[in-house]
Amino acid sequence: MNLVVVGCGYVGLANALGFAKLGHRVACVDADAGKVAKLDVGRMPFFEPGMPELLRSMQEAGRVVFTGDLGSVINGAEAALLCVGTPPSEDGAPDLSFVHAAADDIAKHLSHPLLLIVKSTVPCGTAAALRERFERAGKGDLVRLASVPEFLREGQALKDFFQPDRVVIGSDDGETRALVDSLHAGIEAPRLIMSHESAELAKYAANAFLATKVSFINEMANLCERTGADVRDVEDVLGSDPRIGADFLRPGIGYGGSCFPKDVGALHRMAGANGYDFRLLSAAIDVNNRQRERFVERLERTLGGVKGRRLAVWGLAFKGGTGDARASAAVDVVRALHGRGAEIVAYDPQATSAAADALPDGIIMAPTAVDACDGAEALVVLTDWAEFRDVSFDAVRERLLGPCVFDGRNLLADLGLPKKGFTYYGVGIQA
Ligand code: UGA
Repeated sequence: MNLVVVGCGYVGLANALGFAKLGHRVACVDADAGKVAKLDVGRMPFFEPGMPELLRSMQEAGRVVFTGDLGSVINGAEAALLCVGTPPSEDGAPDLSFVHAAADDIAKHLSHPLLLIVKSTVPCGTAAALRERFERAGKGDLVRLASVPEFLREGQALKDFFQPDRVVIGSDDGETRALVDSLHAGIEAPRLIMSHESAELAKYAANAFLATKVSFINEMANLCERTGADVRDVEDVLGSDPRIGADFLRPGIGYGGSCFPKDVGALHRMAGANGYDFRLLSAAIDVNNRQRERFVERLERTLGGVKGRRLAVWGLAFKGGTGDARASAAVDVVRALHGRGAEIVAYDPQATSAAADALPDGIIMAPTAVDACDGAEALVVLTDWAEFRDVSFDAVRERLLGPCVFDGRNLLADLGLPKKGFTYYGVGIQA
């Protein structure tokens, strides 16, 4: 098929490159001229493993092009994928202005039948509202709408594109469903067919459930610290029960990123707007916000205050494997420690520049993980980058003033740091 992908973020690019690899021809549109110019010469606008190589090979094969002008590509397309962002607006509701702007742009230029696939995470009722929008523009007959939510994770976006757990197809019409199914030929995964509303709500449900699981294990970890239990044992017991599942049971300083906080908040608000008080979600949100504060309080208590003391921080990204620092719990912890007067020297393999805007002045960035430790009284681990486990802890101990490690991700818990002369504090692990 000839496809247009609107929005060149993680979801848009993963879909554009993924469908190109499956043999489709893809034109990608983005309103950010700088991003388009960069992509056009084969440069990625963000860090995502595997994407630079796939971008190069798809450009060489002539299967993917980039433009800022939707009008120049939409009329050659059989399908368009809406992959624009839906960031939280001030009241917490998703801001749909990018979705509406893209739909209006398509309606303005459209003169032939088009399959329009909504990939952006949108509240229940959005597809119905979009249909009305196209009808008002006199283009209702030209558009077949499908709600096909995305479940890919940053850091493994391409793997998730090619091997998803399921393809959700929300549409009221059999032909539209068949078209979406054929577009996904080559992707071996169950097709879950449903209404637009179910597809829209299920996407929020998936993120909210996983976030709730994280908040649950964080509460268990807090209880472990008070009872003498070890949360790793609790994780093992829970995770070995297939009814529970082992994923998303790692405790830490709380979930972050551009999706979980936004989507849990939006679902809570959506429930409220429908006259339902979704209490489990308020608790998951509260626990998540408190978790980073608890970590900071414990660190401050253990060190006897942080004012004027130098701390080495490993990790600013919202999770390991990504350069994204949006709504990062690591950034919140750094801000809180800095606000209490600590001197912070931070290192992150990919997210230093992404985090810079959200950080206060005066945070020092180190060129390597070991350099961050120079003269610091403690090492604070805030992001679960796998490569932190491979750092030489002999070198770390030599550089640190105090051999104290506060691990907000339990990333180094099994490395035997106490035997190497460190005092180690994890989350839910007995010191
Ligand atoms: C999440 C979902 O996992 C994807 O399925 C979804 O498509 C995506 O949001 C989206 O809506 O676009 P992502 O934001 O990339 O993906 O991040 P996750 O890997 O889900 O992690 C979210 C947060 O939870 C991170 O801060 C991570 O550190 C935290 N987390 C995760 C934990 O604290 N413990 C865990 O056991 C797992």
